[in-house]
Amino acid sequence: MAGSPAVIIVLAVALAAAVAAAVAALRQASRLRAQARQAALLARQSEHERDMAQQVLAHRVEEERELTREKTQFHAKLADYEKYAAMAQLALGAAHEINNPLLGIFSHLELELKGADDPEQRAEIQACLEGAKRISSTVRGLLNYARPGPLHLSRVSLERLVDDTFSFLRHQPMFRAIELKKEIPPELPTITADANQISQVLMNLLLNAGQAMPQGGAITVSADKVKFEDRIEVRVTDTGCGIPADILPRVFEPFFTTKRGQGTGLGLSISQAYVRSHHGEMEVESVPNRGTTVRFNLPVRQLGRAAPEPEEELVS
Ligand SMILES: Nc1ncnc2c1ncn2[C@@H]1O[C@H](COP(=O)(O)OP(=O)(O)OP(=O)(O)O)[C@@H](O)[C@H]1O
Ligand SMILES: [Mg+2]
Repeated sequence: MAGSPAVIIVLAVALAAAVAAAVAALRQASRLRAQARQAALLARQSEHERDMAQQVLAHRVEEERELTREKTQFHAKLADYEKYAAMAQLALGAAHEINNPLLGIFSHLELELKGADDPEQRAEIQACLEGAKRISSTVRGLLNYARPGPLHLSRVSLERLVDDTFSFLRHQPMFRAIELKKEIPPELPTITADANQISQVLMNLLLNAGQAMPQGGAITVSADKVKFEDRIEVRVTDTGCGIPADILPRVFEPFFTTKRGQGTGLGLSISQAYVRSHHGEMEVESVPNRGTTVRFNLPVRQLGRAAPEPEEELVS
C-alpha cells in the first residue's frame, strides 16, 4: 500500500506544492525586503530634503535679519548726514553774519589803539582786540567745519604723521605723564590724502585723549589695512575718563563741550568733517572710567580727484 503508485503521486504532488509555496514565500519575502529598502531610502531622502529646506529657511531668515540691520544703519547714517548738512548750513550762515561786522570792529579797534596814549585805555582796547581775535578763530573753526575746503592731496605715510604729531606733543606739559604708543604695521600702504587735515585730525584726537587723563595714562595710535577693501582704519585709544553714554551721541555736534571755558567743542566736529571730505567715516566708542577709542577710516586712493603731488608733504 505504502509503495502504491497512487500514494507516490499524491506525495509528489504535495511535495511539488510545498516547494512551489516555499519558492513563492521566498519571492514574497525578497520583494518585501526590496520594498523595505526602497522605503528606507525614500525616508532618508525626504529627511535630507527636509534638512536642506530647513537650512535654506535659516539662511533666508539670517539674510532678512542682515538686511533689516543694514537698513536701520543706513537710515541712522542718513539722518546723521542730514543733521550734519543742516548744521553746516547754519554754521556757514552764522560765520558769514559774524565775519563782516567783526572786520569792522577790528579795524576800528586798531585805529583806536593807534590814537590812544593813556595806558589804561590801551589795555582796555587790547582786551577788546583779544576778544575779537577769539571770536575770529571760532568763526574760522566754524568755516572749517562747514566747508573744509579743497583737499591738497599728496602720498601720505600715516606712520610719519603720527611720529611728527607725537614728537610735537611729547614736549607739552600735559603729556608728561602720558605714554604715547604706536602700533602701525610696516606694510600699511601710504594713502592719498591732505596731510595737513589728517595731521589736524590726529592732533585733535590726541589732545582730547590727553585732556581725558589729567592723572596720566597711555594713548595708543594703531592702524590696519581694512580686509578686502582699499581703505585703512586708524584708532586712537586712551585710558582716560571715558564718555558717559548719554553724551556719547552728541560729541560730534559743533560747540558741544564738557570742558567749560577750555574747549570750543569744535575739535571732533571739524575732525569728522575733514575725514568725511576724504570719503571716510569717524566714530567713537567709550567705557566710562576705562577709556575711549575714536576710529576713522580713509580710502587708500582718492578716486576721481586730482593726482597727488609726487613728493610726500612734510608736516611738523
Ligand atoms: N578721548 C576722550 N575722552 C573723554 N571725552 C572725550 C574724548 N574725546 C571727546 N570727548 C568729549 O567730547 C566733547 C567734544 O569734544 P571736542 O574735541 O569736539 O571738543 P572739546 O575738546 O571740548 O573742545 P575743543 O576740541 O574745541 O578744544 C569733549 O568736550 C568731551 O566731553
Ligand atoms: Mg577737543
